Amino acid sequence: MKKIQIGSQTAHVGEGEEICRVLADEVEALLKARAAEGKMVVLGLATGSTPLPFYEELIRRHREEGLSFANVRSFNLDEYEGLGREHERSYWAEMWKNLFDHVDVKPENVSVPPSISEDADVASAEYEAAIAEAGGIDWQLLGIGGEGHIGFNEKGSPVESRTRRVTLARKTIVDAGPSFGGEENVPTHAITMGVGTILEARRVVLMARGASKREVVRRAMSGEVGPEVPASFLQNHGNVGWFLDHDAAEF
Ligand code: F6R
Repeated sequence: MKKIQIGSQTAHVGEGEEICRVLADEVEALLKARAAEGKMVVLGLATGSTPLPFYEELIRRHREEGLSFANVRSFNLDEYEGLGREHERSYWAEMWKNLFDHVDVKPENVSVPPSISEDADVASAEYEAAIAEAGGIDWQLLGIGGEGHIGFNEKGSPVESRTRRVTLARKTIVDAGPSFGGEENVPTHAITMGVGTILEARRVVLMARGASKREVVRRAMSGEVGPEVPASFLQNHGNVGWFLDHDAAEF
């Protein structure tokens, strides 16, 4: 994997498989070191298409090499409003299908923001409290949206934002349309960890794949830091890793 400088930031550029191996190495080292001390690891996890091959690599290591997730406490970034956990497009369902069902994580140690709640403000505050109670996030995985969102922190999200109910951007709904069988089926709202919540993670890793992410990655890494491109706030995180495949990195 090669390193390239983009503005003030360093990007790790390689083949998709190589990126997944390197990131799985990071997680594996963390899990093993903590397990040796009898301690938990708090992972912040993302959905969407980008992390899927990374989750496949974690599952492979569990199956073939015995990597254990028994000391994992996880918090997902976000969840669509109104679908319910059973809906196949809910992020709860996607996480079980694509990772949790295939490893030995304890079900009670897995959290995804609620899709249905009586009061989204209360549910959001409870999510924040649960993260704090777990000791904060050790290792946070992110993808990036077409307009630079992280989690569902759309354009305009302030740096100090916390877990909250948000309105999805038009672009987010259009991008999700095909997997919902049409834009009209995509929820209009979600609960997401805030930019501030994400920035408190001790390690943040952003993965981007494909030419469609090229321009937004460039803006996030070397453009002005601000709510116009929420991923740009990561420039000021002291321990962020930008992992790009060749298509996403050819500026
Ligand atoms: C998903 C999430 C989103 C995605 C982003 C990229 O939990 O928080 O920010 O990471 O929309 O999605 P993909 O990977 O499908 O291109």
